[in-house]
Amino acid sequence: MADLLLGQTLSFAADPFTEGPGAARHESRGAVLIEGGIIRATGPADALRRAHPAARVTDCGDALLSAGFVDAHMHYPQTAIIASWGKRLIDWLNGYTFPEEMRFGDPAHAARAADTCLDLMLAQGTTTACSYATIHPESVDAFMAAAQRRGMRVLAGKTCMDRNAPDGLRDTAQSAHDDSRALIGRWHGVDRLSVVITPRFAPTSTRQQLEALGALWAEFPHLLMQTHLSEQSEEIAWVRALFPEARDYLDVYEMHGLLGPGAVFGHCIHLTARERARLLEAGAALVHCPTSNSFIGSGLFDLAGLKAEGQRVGLATDIGGGSSFSMLRTMAAAYEIAQLRGAAIHPAQLWWLATAGSAAALGLGDRIGNLVPGREADIVAVDLASTPAIAQRHARASDIWEALFPTIMMGDDRAIRQVWVAGRPVR
Ligand code: GUN
Ligand code: ZN
Repeated sequence: MADLLLGQTLSFAADPFTEGPGAARHESRGAVLIEGGIIRATGPADALRRAHPAARVTDCGDALLSAGFVDAHMHYPQTAIIASWGKRLIDWLNGYTFPEEMRFGDPAHAARAADTCLDLMLAQGTTTACSYATIHPESVDAFMAAAQRRGMRVLAGKTCMDRNAPDGLRDTAQSAHDDSRALIGRWHGVDRLSVVITPRFAPTSTRQQLEALGALWAEFPHLLMQTHLSEQSEEIAWVRALFPEARDYLDVYEMHGLLGPGAVFGHCIHLTARERARLLEAGAALVHCPTSNSFIGSGLFDLAGLKAEGQRVGLATDIGGGSSFSMLRTMAAAYEIAQLRGAAIHPAQLWWLATAGSAAALGLGDRIGNLVPGREADIVAVDLASTPAIAQRHARASDIWEALFPTIMMGDDRAIRQVWVAGRPVR
C-alpha cells in the first residue's frame, strides 16, 4: 500500500553552492508518495491526493518534510565519551578515546553502544551515518546488525591501527587486511549496509599497513576508503616526522594507494595549496566536522573557499570528538565557523550539506539525501516552531529560509517530529 505524507516539502534540483538558493524546491502544501520504501512522487498535496486516492495519508501539518540527515563521519564507539573535557586531539585520543575503544572487543558492549548511538541519531533525524568502528571486527558486526534491525542505510569499517596505540588496541598490517576483507564479504551490499576501508589516520598505521589497505582497496575499488586528514597542527607535525619521504599529509595516503574518488577525508582544515589541488583533481570527498573542530580546538574549515573551488564536501558530527548528535546543531556550527572566516553560508546550502551534499560525498547521491522520486524514503518531518524561542522568531519569517534558519541555529531533537526509514515510521 502506498503512503502519502503531507506537509511543507524541501528538495534540491542542484547544488545551492553553485546554483544559489534557487536550486532548492519548496512546496508550502506539498506531498510525498512512498511505495515499497521508495519515494515515487512529490508535488502539491491536492494534486497528489487526487492522483492517489487509495494511498494512506499521514498529515504532518506545517512540519517540513525533508530527506533524513546524512552524517558523513562519526565514531559510534565514542558515544559514551562525547563531551569529555579539556584535551586537544592527541591527548584526547589517548586519554578518552582509546580506553573506551578497548572495550569493544566485548560484543555485548559493542551491541549496547551501537543500539544507543543509532537511537540517538534517529531521534535527531539522522537516517544514515558513515561510522568508524574499532580495531575489533566484532565492533563492525555489532553496528551493522543494529542498523540492519532498524532497516537503516549505514556505512562502517574496522578502524585499522598497528602502531601508536595502546596494547590491546593494535592490529597488524596482515590482520587489518584480512579482517577488513572478511567484513566486506560478510556485510558489504547486504540489505542497506556498506563496508568502508578504514585506516584511522597516518600516525596509527605503519607503511606496511597503509600499503596492505591500499592493496585491499585496489581489489575492491567500488568501496569507499575513509580516514582523517590535516585536523590539528600537532598531528600534522607528527605526520611530517613519521613520513619524511612524503610531500605532505595527503601524499602519505596517495603513496600507499589511498587516494581516489572514493576517498572520504575527515576534517581537512589545514590543507596546503598542493593538497587542495590534488584532492580536487582526484575527486575525493572532504568532510566538515564543525562541532568537533571547535570542541577539540582544531581550526576553521574553509567551507566557502573549498566549495568555490569545486571540492566535494559533506557534513558530519564526528561523534565523539564532535559535541552533538544533532545535524541541526552541526549546521549551526558550520555557519558559525564560516562566519569567523568571513562567509555567510545560506540556509539552503547548510541544509543541502546535511542531506544531499553528505550523500554525494559518500557516493550515495542517487540513493538518499533528497526528496525526489526514485530515492529511498528516509525522511524527516521537522517542526519549525519547536520551542518558544524558535516559534517567536519563526512567526516573523517572510520566506522559507527565514522560517528555517531559527531551527538550524537553535533547534534540537524537539524539532524532529517524525522520522521514516525506508518509508517506515520510526516513532
Ligand atoms: N584522528 C584520528 N582518530 C580520530 C578520532 O577518533 N577523532 C578525531 N576527531 N580525530 C581523529
Ligand atoms: Zn573522526
